[in-house]
Amino acid sequence: MTSPLLLSPFTLRDLTLKNRLVISPMCQYSAIDGVVTDWHLVHLGRFALGGAALVIVEATGVEARGRISPGDVGLWNDDQARALARIADFLKASGAAAGIQLAHAGRKASTRRPWDGGTELTGEDLARGEAPWETLAPSALPFADNYPTPKAMTVADIAEVILAFRDAARRADAAGFDVVEIHAAHGYLLHEFLSPLSNHRTDQYGGDRAGRMRFPLEVVKTVRAVWPAGKPLFLRVSSVDHVAGGLTIDDTVAFGREAGALGVDVVDCSSGGNTPTPPKLFPGYQAPYAEAVRRETGMATMAVGLILDAALAESILAEGKADLIAIARPALEDPNFAIHASAALTGSADYALAPLPAKSGLDRLAQSLRHVGGA
Ligand SMILES: Cc1cc2nc3c(=O)[nH]c(=O)nc-3n(C[C@H](O)[C@H](O)[C@H](O)COP(=O)(O)O)c2cc1C
Repeated sequence: MTSPLLLSPFTLRDLTLKNRLVISPMCQYSAIDGVVTDWHLVHLGRFALGGAALVIVEATGVEARGRISPGDVGLWNDDQARALARIADFLKASGAAAGIQLAHAGRKASTRRPWDGGTELTGEDLARGEAPWETLAPSALPFADNYPTPKAMTVADIAEVILAFRDAARRADAAGFDVVEIHAAHGYLLHEFLSPLSNHRTDQYGGDRAGRMRFPLEVVKTVRAVWPAGKPLFLRVSSVDHVAGGLTIDDTVAFGREAGALGVDVVDCSSGGNTPTPPKLFPGYQAPYAEAVRRETGMATMAVGLILDAALAESILAEGKADLIAIARPALEDPNFAIHASAALTGSADYALAPLPAKSGLDRLAQSLRHVGGA
């Protein structure tokens, strides 16, 4: 039997991932003043114990205004960086590469945690010590009725946010992360600039595709300049807006190509999020976008979205649609997804995917099972 692609290593710059399974960033809304807690260590650590090659820390605000909610992780000060270093250390000591997603929530900032409704923070929240803040966007257009109207950014605001991305990338490097992913998806600030639905500017940061790409590409260029040459840079995009008049896959191919020329290594192909309308869902529904970007740009891509089992993950790789597979919710349901995938694809679980203390115990289970029934 040929060795499954999902279990084969993948090298990007100086980093070799031990397999192709990546844990997609997942906001936990559980940070305190932007500082990760033991919750994050356990949440992320279990995926390293389960054999994933790369674990990416959730959308991390590059400035306080860039948080979705008051519980978001941040990386605009050294206390936040110190706490994140503990997580990077643990992931790496457990055999996974450590990634972090740098983000700015734009007009989707200043909201309640999802389990509190996810709607605009108000005076009621202020009474609990969680004050609303002014949100930023390319144009003063709210995301939806229950969202705040953002401030249309000035050119000085744009320059300030670019520097915040730069400083956060420097801190991520110092904290020991192997991979930075720039978040340009899901209706957050960079996506808002890219999409004609949310960018109605008439200056150099709006208008045609080149104008709408300008600010996200300036972020890419600035981050790449401080992110070490040996470390890979990922870019998460919403490949399409799923509505007429929104971003198309041609826009995304053009953006990926420009970003690649500036030193992005992997395009992580998600979709949607810039309107409240959900797309039609089916297993692997976003893989065709990863395929298109990979084919048209020659860049490495990552497929994500309802990749529910090892067979689907393997077929996406084998059919040349993507180089990496990212999972989020399936990993919450099964943190040992990689180990179970090895069993599904080869007929025997590869416990060596887990770090030694876990592997040793699992080997003992396998040994005992061989003796069950007197064999
Ligand atoms: C709890 C939760 C939090 C998420 N937080 C983020 C995030 O911080 N950044 C991001 O780009 N996507 C985020 N997502 C989207 C996932 O990374 C992923 O793209 C999406 O869930 C589809 O993959 P899945 O079907 O494997 O879950 C989140 C998803 C979930 C379920």
